Amino acid sequence: MNSDDFLNQLSDLFTTHGAKGDSNQRLSNAEHMLQTAAAARAANTDDVLIAACLLHDIGHWLHPEPVDALKRSKDDCHEDIGAQYLAPHFADPVIRPVALHVAAKRYLCATEPDYFQKLSPASVRTLEHQGGPMDAAEVADFQAITDHQNAIAIRRWDEYGKVPGLDVPSFDAYRPMLRELMTTKREN
Ligand SMILES: [Fe+2]
Repeated sequence: MNSDDFLNQLSDLFTTHGAKGDSNQRLSNAEHMLQTAAAARAANTDDVLIAACLLHDIGHWLHPEPVDALKRSKDDCHEDIGAQYLAPHFADPVIRPVALHVAAKRYLCATEPDYFQKLSPASVRTLEHQGGPMDAAEVADFQAITDHQNAIAIRRWDEYGKVPGLDVPSFDAYRPMLRELMTTKREN
């Protein structure tokens, strides 16, 4: 699949899921990811991290039975599913933070006493299924992983991406940036 075909596929996913809000939250997953990317862009971070923010939860839409999985109180492993889906098209600096953003939540809950208080009710529920806060050994292992800081950064902007009705740029606003990042992947 070439870059434009993949970007069209991504755009279709955002359109399809844009109106379908999570039952536990008042805004859709598409709105949430667009708001997370907008928060990253407002902070003047680099394109790699903005792209990771924009796409970090895409695995929710690719899970064969996401709603059922969560109803059965299982972790839907959306971070792995999303990273695998994106990996053929984007380089590791984009993929790794996507794959690590759930671990980053567990890390922050273990290392920052007030972080847990900032989580939405839905995030608190999923944290339990994702393994809860990290223990000391997991914290040390996480700190040794390349790009773990960028995964933490996603988590921080993620918490700004939960504002019902907030007007932010659409997926198409990021197409040129994403196309450029995909070119970088092909050239390496
Ligand atoms: Fe998120």
